[in-house]
Amino acid sequence: MGAPSPSLLTLALASSLAFIATSTLASGDEAAFIGCLIENSHPSYPIAPAIYTPENASYAPVLQAYIRNLRFNTSTTPKPRVIVTALHESHVQAAVICGRENSLQVKIRSGGHNYEGISYYSLSESPFFILDMFNLRTIEVDVANGTAWVQTGATLGELYYRIANESGGIYGFPGGVCPTVGVGGHLSGGGYGNMMRKHGLTVDHVVDALMVDVNGRILDRVAMGEDLFWAIRGGGGASFGVVLAYKVNLVRVPETVTVFRVARTLEQNATDVVYKWEQVAPHLDEDLFIRLIIDVVNSTTPQNGTAKTVRASFLALFLGNSTRLLSITNESFPELGLEPSDCTEMSWVESVLYWTSFPAGTPVEALLSRTPQVLNHFKRKSDYVKRPIPIEGLEYIFARMIELVKPILTFNPYGGKMAEIASTATPFPHRAGNLWKVQYAANWDEDGEEAAAYYIGLTRKLYEYMTPFVSKNPREAFLNYIDLDLGINRGDEAAYTEAMAYGVKYFKGNYKRLISIKTRVDPQNYFRNEQSIPILPRQRS
Ligand SMILES: Cc1cc2nc3c(=O)[nH]c(=O)nc-3n(C[C@H](O)[C@H](O)[C@H](O)COP(=O)(O)OP(=O)(O)OC[C@H]3O[C@@H](n4cnc5c(N)ncnc54)[C@H](O)[C@@H]3O)c2cc1C
Ligand SMILES: *[C@@H]1O[C@H](CO)[C@@H](O)[C@H](O)[C@H]1NC(C)=O
Ligand SMILES: *[C@@H]1O[C@H](CO)[C@@H](O)[C@H](O)[C@H]1NC(C)=O
Ligand SMILES: *[C@@H]1O[C@H](CO)[C@@H](O)[C@H](O)[C@H]1NC(C)=O
Ligand SMILES: *[C@@H]1O[C@H](CO)[C@@H](O)[C@H](O)[C@H]1NC(C)=O
Ligand SMILES: *[C@@H]1O[C@H](CO)[C@@H](O)[C@H](O)[C@H]1NC(C)=O
Ligand SMILES: *[C@@H]1O[C@H](CO)[C@@H](O)[C@H](O)[C@H]1NC(C)=O
Ligand SMILES: *[C@@H]1O[C@H](CO)[C@@H](O)[C@H](O)[C@H]1NC(C)=O
Ligand SMILES: *[C@@H]1O[C@H](CO)[C@@H](O)[C@H](O)[C@H]1NC(C)=O
Ligand SMILES: *[C@@H]1O[C@H](CO)[C@@H](O)[C@H](O)[C@H]1NC(C)=O
Repeated sequence: MGAPSPSLLTLALASSLAFIATSTLASGDEAAFIGCLIENSHPSYPIAPAIYTPENASYAPVLQAYIRNLRFNTSTTPKPRVIVTALHESHVQAAVICGRENSLQVKIRSGGHNYEGISYYSLSESPFFILDMFNLRTIEVDVANGTAWVQTGATLGELYYRIANESGGIYGFPGGVCPTVGVGGHLSGGGYGNMMRKHGLTVDHVVDALMVDVNGRILDRVAMGEDLFWAIRGGGGASFGVVLAYKVNLVRVPETVTVFRVARTLEQNATDVVYKWEQVAPHLDEDLFIRLIIDVVNSTTPQNGTAKTVRASFLALFLGNSTRLLSITNESFPELGLEPSDCTEMSWVESVLYWTSFPAGTPVEALLSRTPQVLNHFKRKSDYVKRPIPIEGLEYIFARMIELVKPILTFNPYGGKMAEIASTATPFPHRAGNLWKVQYAANWDEDGEEAAAYYIGLTRKLYEYMTPFVSKNPREAFLNYIDLDLGINRGDEAAYTEAMAYGVKYFKGNYKRLISIKTRVDPQNYFRNEQSIPILPRQRS
């Protein structure tokens, strides 16, 4: 690292003094942290324009720009002492070195879609800063080799757009369906999308990575070794370091894909159709992914007046044309009653827009927008199902849903490629033996603790009602659907025991290996958060 220029030192001094004068801090030393950042950055890549303290006018807008759950956009949500919006890889290195040196916890944020907001706020008392990755979003597509390097601050929409554009529609990537999700959290947490039955998870296509370790070094796959490379493909990057970029293998997509969305209410025999979906969806041709979304709506039968009913919506992506799709559904799932008029043919990249509910005809450039179409307050939980839920079970759950109204269930079918990959291949353990994953969701517009407690309570009730029908010992969960109800570690001596509660649910048999890698690469547990991988307890002498 070169010596800082005098003008940067002056800036640093000014900002330090301003900070000391106006803050009454119990612990952590921002001034020293900022001084260290400047000292540790190269004059060719000045870091001052990347540093925001509450004294900077744009601190609040920068903080809020990637808050994707409005539950955590309140004046009482704990705030970072500093935000570093890295403009260069060396800024990430400096942030890690200086954060450690000054005991300032790091919260790494890429797309900010973490369900519990823990990429930008902390439940612990200790001071923290945000390392914001959104400026680091270069994407290099190598069409000839069928690969791409993508920096973690890119969004999935940007990645999909660039792959489709540069390959002329030949390639796609099997990631999540929401275009504003960040690559950093999504890939490090083991992302999935609607091509999962054909191609597996995002992490099944990661072939290299660049990351900054706890010593501030930049490591590629060879330098980090196979253990650490394994861990950052589903174990959650934030427990191990800061991932700068991933290299991924692209997948071939057909010129024409087909989508549909059809819905059936209880009055339209939804229960029977859902029951049949349970039998077929995880076993269909792997070109066909039929997501099932179950919510509560007003009755469609006029004589039922204001009664509520359950609606089952079948949302599909088929990697082929509508003729072949209809021959599959007519043969294997006639109960759905799919008609040619329900089906729309389009390119793969257009299907990404369709799945995100953009109006038909929206230009594909909409994928480049970093602002979600809707922002609200929300709670999510997850489960796995290993045996079909009997008809009486469905009737029971639907009756409970009509009482609760708000929470929505989404079933994502597994099988296909998901069942062929070993559960130890990546930290993500939920492979063969799972029929589908359940997501519980409640979204609301009202601000405030009271509304949040009410809707979170409804979501937890539905999760309780589902207990007889889902996996047990452990009751499995998906890391990217992070749920702090499963346990929190407080970063002290009890962390190891506290972390067991959520660790085995997210990682099952892979959890032990994650702990041993973590203990080796970050023995002081600098990279920690509410649900990070703990280090082994120190041997008492
Ligand atoms: C609207 C919506 C739709 C979604 N759809 C899907 C879906 O289809 N499939 C799916 O699998 N998931 C889906 N998710 C979940 C999503 O994959 C996770 O929330 C994911 O972790 C978000 O990544 P992010 O970078 O946007 O989030 P962030 O909040 O920025 O980060 C999430 C976590 O990763 C850590 N992290 C972020 N960047 C880095 C980095 N560079 N290095 C190390 N650690 C890092 C953070 O510290 C945090 O712990 C969805 C979420 C939302 C809100
Ligand atoms: C924030 O303010 C400090 C002190 O004035 C300055 O050094 C820094 O560059 C500002 N940050 C940005 C991003 O402008
Ligand atoms: C977040 O809160 C701030 C301050 O109250 C507000 O100005 C902003 O609009 C909020 N963001 C969203 C997306 O509602
Ligand atoms: C494929 O990648 C290798 C190295 O990653 C590169 O040397 C080669 O030029 C690439 N091939 C093509 C056809 O671009
Ligand atoms: C790629 O994007 C450019 C605009 O950036 C556009 O002119 C071109 O038609 C696109 N190509 C394809 C194959 O989508
Ligand atoms: C529901 O099922 C009944 C009995 O099988 C059948 O008569 C009826 O036509 C079905 N209704 C719809 C809307 O499919
Ligand atoms: C559902 O019915 C309620 C009255 O019971 C009404 O207030 C509401 O607007 C209806 N919702 C829709 C989407 O029609
Ligand atoms: C609606 O009415 C029909 C008969 O008209 C009845 O079978 C059905 O159970 C009712 N549904 C609800 C949700 O009340
Ligand atoms: C649909 O796809 C099948 C095989 O994938 C092909 O044989 C058939 O010609 C296609 N039909 C149309 C109308 O494109
Ligand atoms: C499938 O069934 C529908 C409805 O009965 C019919 O319109 C369509 O032609 C059938 N398609 C195939 C490929 O069998």
